[in-house]
Amino acid sequence: MQIAVIAGDGIGKDVTAEALKVLTAVSERFGRRLHFERLPWGADHYLESKVTIPLDGYDLLRAFEAIFIGALGDPRVPDNRHARDILLGTRFELDLYVNYRPVRLLDERLCPLKGRGPADVNFVVFRENTEGLYVGVGGRFKAGTDDEIAIQEELNTYKGVHRIVRHAFEFAKARGLTKVCMADKSNAMTDGHALWQRVFRQLATEYPGITATHYYIDALAMYMVLDPGQFEVIVTNNLFGDIITDLGATFQGGLGMAASGNLHPGKTSMFEPVHGSAPKFAGKNVANPIGAIASAALMLETLGLAEEAAAIDAAILKAVRERQVTQDVGGQLGTREAGDYIAAAVRAI
Ligand SMILES: NC(=O)c1ccc[n+]([C@@H]2O[C@H](COP(=O)([O-])OP(=O)(O)OC[C@H]3O[C@@H](n4cnc5c(N)ncnc54)[C@H](O)[C@@H]3O)[C@@H](O)[C@H]2O)c1
Repeated sequence: MQIAVIAGDGIGKDVTAEALKVLTAVSERFGRRLHFERLPWGADHYLESKVTIPLDGYDLLRAFEAIFIGALGDPRVPDNRHARDILLGTRFELDLYVNYRPVRLLDERLCPLKGRGPADVNFVVFRENTEGLYVGVGGRFKAGTDDEIAIQEELNTYKGVHRIVRHAFEFAKARGLTKVCMADKSNAMTDGHALWQRVFRQLATEYPGITATHYYIDALAMYMVLDPGQFEVIVTNNLFGDIITDLGATFQGGLGMAASGNLHPGKTSMFEPVHGSAPKFAGKNVANPIGAIASAALMLETLGLAEEAAAIDAAILKAVRERQVTQDVGGQLGTREAGDYIAAAVRAI
């Protein structure tokens, strides 16, 4: 399998090295041929070449079976244009409309919610990934003056809403889950989110075995904290999904623990830890590699390698339970040592 790897900036480089270490252990343990093509795109490359992503960059990426990204963002590029082109650009150009974010607590001691354990925090968020407020439609008039007007439009299309809501129901059905919750703000955003309401109600009728519920996004945030156990699958738009998945990451033990996939089912998809490049930790052997390693597991799962993905998940669980992890989640290991431990655990399975 051909996998494009963009380690990117800051701790993206540190955690990607560990994800590749674990993937190599998987390929040896299970006899899978995984070929990694390392692409140098990131802040260093941009500052040297003035190229964020080559002209044929998106076509190049389409030729791979999957893309793995570390993180992008560097204070030397204040407007982060390279990150926008590489990360958001790939989401839009490859039409990666599903942002797949499992929220799974591995150990009670990592959860900041009082009295909650792994049985209470185990759900999936599907965030619409190509529309909403992140499409860059808008502009500023009289910028920098007291008369400034700033407009940023939210885009909702029937096709876009339909396919992400459909994906959420299909995922639930395939996994034998029985609850899908849609979150919007249709009480205040009465046009754009009326479309979400219509599509959700329409599709729910096709899945009689699944209970379809709805919360306004502010209520959803509250219920995520008060009673996370009620959720199995949550589907929402780009902005709300961005926010609630960081909230979900805190339930798992912080940003260093959270994995994500940017999917177009049946086509090349992209996998990345949820965290950013955390420049202050870059190259210091302190970043938690679990989010990146768990993202590699999501990649294998999506490529149909369920047994291999499960082996990585089991190795992560063992590392967490035995506290063979970095300091942010209560261990004493460095990034490399935490990766070594998980790779060795995969080999031992
Ligand atoms: N997908 C991405 O590539 C992505 C996502 C978010 C932010 N960014 C970019 O990253 C840069 C830094 O952004 P930020 O500081 O807001 O977010 P960040 O996720 O990089 O870091 C926020 C804080 O979370 C903690 N943290 C994050 N990842 C960790 C890990 N693996 N191990 C241990 N602790 C971890 C650290 O305390 C860190 O200071 C910015 O340039 C931003 O634009 C990129």
